Amino acid sequence: MKLPEQIHFQRYQLQPLGEVMALEQIQTHIGALAADEVLIKVAAASLNYRDLIILRNVGKGSVAGQIPLSDAAGTVVAAGESVSEWPIGARVATGFFSTWQTGKYQPQHHLAGALGGAQTAGVLAQYIVAKANAIVEVPAHLSLQQAATLPCAAVTAWQALFDRGQLAEGETVLIQGTGGVALFALQLAVAQGARVIITSSSDEKLAKAHALGAWQTINYRKQPDWDQAVLELTAGTGADQILELGGPDTFSRSISAVAGGGHIHQIGVLSGFAPSPNLLPLQLQNATIHGTLVGSLAHFKALNHFISQHKIEPIIDRSFSFNQAQAAFDYLASAQHFGKIIINFEL
Ligand SMILES: NC(=O)c1ccc[n+]([C@@H]2O[C@H](COP(=O)([O-])OP(=O)(O)OC[C@H]3O[C@@H](n4cnc5c(N)ncnc54)[C@H](OP(=O)(O)O)[C@@H]3O)[C@@H](O)[C@H]2O)c1
Repeated sequence: MKLPEQIHFQRYQLQPLGEVMALEQIQTHIGALAADEVLIKVAAASLNYRDLIILRNVGKGSVAGQIPLSDAAGTVVAAGESVSEWPIGARVATGFFSTWQTGKYQPQHHLAGALGGAQTAGVLAQYIVAKANAIVEVPAHLSLQQAATLPCAAVTAWQALFDRGQLAEGETVLIQGTGGVALFALQLAVAQGARVIITSSSDEKLAKAHALGAWQTINYRKQPDWDQAVLELTAGTGADQILELGGPDTFSRSISAVAGGGHIHQIGVLSGFAPSPNLLPLQLQNATIHGTLVGSLAHFKALNHFISQHKIEPIIDRSFSFNQAQAAFDYLASAQHFGKIIINFEL
């Protein structure tokens, strides 16, 4: 479908700068949509640790020229002929994997094909085009800025705890750090009536996590043997569900802190890739490791239903304007944040 007139707008793209990538802002335009596509005016985007990995070019892949970031929310401003489900003005958020609609993960959805990866345009643009079946409705109680935090971090926490882990009221959940995935896991688990133990490098952040409903807090800098602290806090039982966000530096302690029949959700790479812990204690606890990769559009819709029921509001630490995208990445790299960092296009 040809748009009534061409829309000119700004977007960012990744440009090689030595061994890493740099952000470059460019002017671009769009004049047509496919029949099954919508045009979204982006109101906000949010950053995830993955975006930092891509900017640092850790994968040494071919991301040059690609638009960064996977998470955005905005308003539908035009739709192709066959789109009936999204009226003009609909408030929508992007699905991390545009092809993973529902059911089990399949290899064709792979990470490079997710928004903002090596093979698929991301969302750090004033307008984006999406397949009509690759977006979800924003919960009514959330602003578009709040909704922009959900597609990666919140869906990951949801899939882990509620789909793979089948989190039940009264279970003990152990969460590492106070970044995006961690705080969504905290809010979702508290709403489900679970007891949350959360770790952080900062007492100040732990006090804020406590105010959000954490049952117990542990400073992993002051208490490097935090797995022992978890066992003491649970009278030797351990945690039923563990969000493993640290990677090689934390995995062995997660195994030592898991309860009998418990679940470890392998999600994070904050201290590096490919942990190789001794798995024997896991066997002796009859426990399970779930490899977790964000989630499907069905997971996103189920998350939104739960968020709406419990009126959960994402924790946004700081908002940057569109022109301050580099500062937003620098702030993420500093790890000073508590919760999510967004780029608010309306600032
Ligand atoms: N598998 C997936 O589908 C998936 C999806 C989303 C994210 N992830 C991964 O999950 C991790 C978290 O992502 P995010 O976007 O939430 O990151 P983030 O917002 O950048 O969170 C970083 C925070 O984690 C904490 N942290 C750092 N190193 C730690 C360590 N060794 N032990 C415990 N906590 C540590 C720090 O919190 P304090 O300052 O409180 O210590 C830090 O501020 C990343 O590795 C990311 O790549 C994976």
